[in-house]
Amino acid sequence: MSKKLFIKTWGCQMNVYDSARMADVLAPLGYTPSDEPDGADMVILNTCHIREKAAEKVFSELGRLRHMKDEKARQGDRMVLAVAGCVAQAEGEEIVARAPFVDIVFGPQTYHTLPEMVAKAHRAAGAVLNTDFPAESKFDHLPEDSGGQGVSAFLAVQEGCDKFCTFCVVPYTRGAEFSRPAFQVLAEAKRMIANGTREINLLGQNVNAYHGEAADGSTWSLARLIRELAEIDGLARIRYTTSHPRDLQDDLIRAHAEVPQLMPYLHLPVQAGSDRILAAMNRKHTADHYRAIVDKLRTANPDLALSGDFIVGFPGESDADFAETLRLVNDVTYAQAYSFKYSPRPGTPASTEARQVPEEVKSERLAALQQLLDAQQAAFNAGFVGRTVPVLFDRPGKRPGQLMGRSPHMQSVYVQASERLVGTIADVRIEAAYANSLAGTVETGVYVSRTGHSAGVSA
Ligand code: 5AD
Ligand code: SF4
Repeated sequence: MSKKLFIKTWGCQMNVYDSARMADVLAPLGYTPSDEPDGADMVILNTCHIREKAAEKVFSELGRLRHMKDEKARQGDRMVLAVAGCVAQAEGEEIVARAPFVDIVFGPQTYHTLPEMVAKAHRAAGAVLNTDFPAESKFDHLPEDSGGQGVSAFLAVQEGCDKFCTFCVVPYTRGAEFSRPAFQVLAEAKRMIANGTREINLLGQNVNAYHGEAADGSTWSLARLIRELAEIDGLARIRYTTSHPRDLQDDLIRAHAEVPQLMPYLHLPVQAGSDRILAAMNRKHTADHYRAIVDKLRTANPDLALSGDFIVGFPGESDADFAETLRLVNDVTYAQAYSFKYSPRPGTPASTEARQVPEEVKSERLAALQQLLDAQQAAFNAGFVGRTVPVLFDRPGKRPGQLMGRSPHMQSVYVQASERLVGTIADVRIEAAYANSLAGTVETGVYVSRTGHSAGVSA
């Protein structure tokens, strides 16, 4: 009998990927994904710990779910309630103590054992807590990817991080840096492409540190992996995220010049523009080092658009330090970016720093930075009006008759067109630019069919 599974996902793309894989693991037990928690037989909260108030959000969600669980129990049925992800990893014991009605608590490295955890939860009273960092890789134990991710899909190739930026919880919640074997990645990519995927986004917390074992025992860099993926028929587009400037090697920069399927868009967080703050963040690069990498990338591919992450109000950040961030943004010019107020994360070195920046100062700096970044994004998008760009359509839009796709530079593009175009790449003439998207018209008769080659896909 089919059982209803509801997964709520917070945070990064890796969490979105993990949630899809949890559904794959639970499918043989009869669980089918559902869009709402009402009446679900199992609910998983896949949590994020990277910024503010993560745990509080989880506890308030658990409060709501407790009522549904009780309701289900009154009907003589059971809702298995699980908390997963980075909050579970960091605060597992607190969750068990504060929310004793939770059945299972597990971290990002153990979800391949979900069937055992579910069985245990059914057998015994009390929560099953599994926040180990097991010696074996979960990737060796997961079932085949169901390929159900669609036209544009994530593929985790690397996980964890050894960089230990002083503000960041990732090295503690995701564990040490680990690369999946390249042969495993290629096999998974081929299955996804056979199931209709046309764009693969290679995921990793520090993806360009990738060094995976190939079938012949050699070690492949991310650039080598990308070149091999580009050889697979039917794969039109390749992306990767997120990269650390320190690990951006020349072979990857060359791939941006030479591999047409590698999209001209790169998420390369810098976090701050002051060398003093970068050192305090343990970023292992200076602002000029970052500028030099960007120059190299743009020399290799002048069409490359950049995205970034920024933190304002890191402990000890002065007005002069912050001015350096604005100067760096002005020098680099971003197509898109994410910016955050520094949030002290328990257990990280920066959280115990004495010189915390007052909240009002953080807010002012964030507003100033976002104004600049928004203006850059608007100018970037406006530059496309009147141009024709190849768009990979991956889903229907919100309005009737509308289709949504992505440009090579990651912009969302809306058109009025037949749903038959989903899964294809079509040339779109851009007619309007907005803060976060573009709108245009499909130039008829020039789209590349689903089964077609990737020719004409270059930016
Ligand atoms: N406070 C604010 N932002 C943070 N990030 C990571 N840790 C923190 C923190 N403690 C941001 C960084 C990172 C992005 C994923 O989240 O900019 O690149
Ligand atoms: Fe966190 Fe990224 Fe720094 Fe790793 S490189 S510690 S994931 S911010």
